[in-house]
Amino acid sequence: MTHDQPLKIAIQKSGRLSDDSRQLLRECGISVQNGKHALIARAHNFPLEVLYLRDDDIPQYVADGTADVGIVGQNVVAEAACKVEELRPLGFGSCRLSLAVPKAVAYDGLTWFEGRKIATSYPRLLKRFLQAHDIDAEVHTISGSVEIAPNIGLADAIADLVSSGTTLFSNGLKEVEVIMYSEATLVANPYLSKGKQALLDKLLFRIDAVQRAARSKYVVLNAPNDRIEAISRILPGMKSPTVVPLAEAGWSALHSVINEDEFWEVIDELKAVGAQGILVVPIEKMIR
Ligand code: PRP
Ligand code: ZN
Repeated sequence: MTHDQPLKIAIQKSGRLSDDSRQLLRECGISVQNGKHALIARAHNFPLEVLYLRDDDIPQYVADGTADVGIVGQNVVAEAACKVEELRPLGFGSCRLSLAVPKAVAYDGLTWFEGRKIATSYPRLLKRFLQAHDIDAEVHTISGSVEIAPNIGLADAIADLVSSGTTLFSNGLKEVEVIMYSEATLVANPYLSKGKQALLDKLLFRIDAVQRAARSKYVVLNAPNDRIEAISRILPGMKSPTVVPLAEAGWSALHSVINEDEFWEVIDELKAVGAQGILVVPIEKMIR
């Protein structure tokens, strides 16, 4: 099958999501130039064109079809309220949109914001939150460096993204309420052509394989043959484990896949029933 039109993906040019977005494409086996200078780059080995944009512009570009898909924070998508489809949370770029006040404030609950002035780049989400909690406050929209607003007397408080908390801390602010939790997400134009949809499906297949792999570990261990059954019962692997006889009579090696989250619990149990030489190996891709 040939595709004349490459799939166009918009990612953040520079900022919190840009490195991880590039890495995701790389892990999907797609190699592109880094976009330090060019705003558009064509992948060498996949019909994909990468547009490097400001994150706040990405929902609009995807909605109007300038880009077919995009990688952007859920917070930006929610604020933009454009017509895009959210396909997958991507597991990186975790942050929250929070209300923060000067450290010295004796904060005693949401009513503190009553009649106050709040600076933010997320007016829509903030207003919705205030309305839902029946708080009457003044929302002051600014597009950057929101965190300095209280210090220069522009506002009493801010609503901004918090990731590590460094920005708040170094500006003498403290987080007091979470408005929304967010992570990077893959968004798509809802009206893709058949050809583009086929390319997107291919990309999604790769993303899913990469994400599944990130959540799993490959386990190799040795055990006496009479323990294999007990060990197999502990390993909640994909299907039944692979058992390979070792050179030493009466022993086997067992291979399986375990979920990252269950890892430590499972390892202790395995040791208890006689597993030895346990190796835990990262998985690069996992295809179903
Ligand atoms: C957010 C926010 C803060 C910073 C918080 O900006 O505006 O500046 O991240 O991160 P920290 O808690 O780790 O210090 P973002 O990366 O979204 O950039 P943008 O506002 O320029 O899009
Ligand atoms: Zn931004």
